Amino acid sequence: MGNTATMESEYVFDTSWEREHGRLLALEEIYDSQSRHRLTELGVVDGWHCLEVGCGAGSIARWLAKQVGAAGRVLATDVDTRFAHSHGLSNLEIRTHDLLRDDLPEASFDLVHARAVIEHLPDRDKALRRLAAATRPGGWVVVEDFDIDGPTAPAVDLYFPPGYTEPAERLGRALRAAFGATGVDRGTGPRLPQALTDAGLTEVRAQVHAPVLTGGDAAFLPLTLRSLRPRLLATGEVSDMDIEDVITLTKSHGTTYLPNYMTITWGRKPA
Ligand SMILES: C[S@@+](CC[C@H](N)C(=O)[O-])C[C@H]1O[C@@H](n2cnc3c(N)ncnc32)[C@H](O)[C@@H]1O
Repeated sequence: MGNTATMESEYVFDTSWEREHGRLLALEEIYDSQSRHRLTELGVVDGWHCLEVGCGAGSIARWLAKQVGAAGRVLATDVDTRFAHSHGLSNLEIRTHDLLRDDLPEASFDLVHARAVIEHLPDRDKALRRLAAATRPGGWVVVEDFDIDGPTAPAVDLYFPPGYTEPAERLGRALRAAFGATGVDRGTGPRLPQALTDAGLTEVRAQVHAPVLTGGDAAFLPLTLRSLRPRLLATGEVSDMDIEDVITLTKSHGTTYLPNYMTITWGRKPA
């Protein structure tokens, strides 16, 4: 995948931050419906074996466990499993696991899914190859990532109300610099279709998901900005007042704004 970093990268979010669990729940609230729709379209049914990589707070893993029933099973992994709970689902195993370092069963899963994970990893091609290797012949790999600095990124600014255009632009620059400094690939989303093909998958298709959010309804962007505040200020691109202005906008009823686009991409392991 283009821009694959060769250095070690540091996960850009502080998982010990007291509101990180809430931030992950807010991410699920925005993106789960689209993920569930795609996984349903691909035919997830009773008895499937599924792998959810970088499961975060675990909502997709739990949903999958309910879809596949007692005859199926779900393995949910994350380097940091403190927020993932099985909620008593006996066919769901949660495992502490680093996608780049730790082994996975080979050719075992009917479905492998990773959302907002690959973009954070220093070797994204290796990560995708590992997802493909874990999939059984005929099974599906579904990968979702943001476009923070690619072709769709400028469209985000168009949705901010006029008074917020300049702080939003400064914030955009700061976000790109902060993500870049920790090795996040800011354009992973648009590169996924080619990258999945390069990983040996066939029938590769993709869709861009860009929900316009309403002020006060979604906590994901305000919490993300609060979490990243020290890193954003360190870039020198943005002031604390800019960050607060955009947080205020995202919390004001009656306003709308657009977070970065998510590309959802799926491909099949050749039978
Ligand atoms: C932005 S969160 C997304 C969580 C979840 N996939 C979702 O979309 O709701 C990224 C997740 O990837 C995990 N992660 C980061 N590096 C990882 C690695 N090397 N292996 C497995 N998980 C990783 C983080 O701990 C975090 O839970």
